[in-house]
Amino acid sequence: MTHETAGRPGLGFSDVDQNPMRAAMIAGMDATGRWPAVQTLRSWERSRLRLRPGEHLLDVGCGTGDVLVGLAADVPLGRGVGVDASAEMLDEASRRARRAGVAVELVKGDAAKIEFPDGAFDACRSERTLQWLRDPDAALRELVRLARPGGRVVVTDTDWRTFLVDHPDPDLAAKILAGLATTRGAGHSVGGRLLNLLRDAGAQQVEVAAATHTWTAWDPDRTAQPSGFVPLRAAAGGLVEAGHIGVEDLDRFIALQEDAARHDRLFMSLTMFSAAGVAP
Ligand SMILES: C[S@@+](CC[C@H](N)C(=O)[O-])C[C@H]1O[C@@H](n2cnc3c(N)ncnc32)[C@H](O)[C@@H]1O
Repeated sequence: MTHETAGRPGLGFSDVDQNPMRAAMIAGMDATGRWPAVQTLRSWERSRLRLRPGEHLLDVGCGTGDVLVGLAADVPLGRGVGVDASAEMLDEASRRARRAGVAVELVKGDAAKIEFPDGAFDACRSERTLQWLRDPDAALRELVRLARPGGRVVVTDTDWRTFLVDHPDPDLAAKILAGLATTRGAGHSVGGRLLNLLRDAGAQQVEVAAATHTWTAWDPDRTAQPSGFVPLRAAAGGLVEAGHIGVEDLDRFIALQEDAARHDRLFMSLTMFSAAGVAP
């Protein structure tokens, strides 16, 4: 339902290169990068990554590379590596790194199996990527495996169970949200499970932080979606295909949501979590 919430596998960030909305997704990522909640968690993350000059940093699901490039610009890293499944994202990251004058290595790969030896990095991070994976637990184990003993691991993700919408038809909204929970798989709830998943992956001294984004304004006559969203119809259309709702339900959901926004009654919120730990 947002650029983060695909109603159908393949529509969201699981396979960006096959997604016809790639350009909108990059713009959506730039918008979410400006959310105060994301900024808060990134700042918490920095205090846990504690990067020092010469260290080796891995960013899994680096996307457009903004965070990796920002970290590498602030601390002269020995090595900064971004891994992403999407060639298009890596191209964008490469352009941004060049523009920033920062040298980073960008590698196409799958978060579940990253081709680096055990303990290759001093710090590993991953942000809002695990939710798109079939097996987020496996990716977390990889992050811990790739950190050297005593190395830091920080993961951030959304928990879609926290998504609230004060919709004029709450029953319809509940039906749509329940449909999204069913179609999205293990990633749907990964945010609220990060603390224990990181512990299960073997990390020690694990801590957690949370931050909530709220939307209270949107002009549907000016933009197709609230900031950080993709068009509702494209994202939730998978629920129609999967038989969770009829197309008339989707039309009604969207029309009412637009109407609420036009009357200055938009309210939605979403919580993201970060967990930080130390590799054994
Ligand atoms: C929502 S974006 C987040 C990007 C970035 N971490 C950020 O916070 O701006 C999710 C990223 O995960 C990548 N991704 C999805 N599945 C992946 C996988 N199996 N392995 C590695 N990256 C993956 C996508 O291509 C996309 O760049």
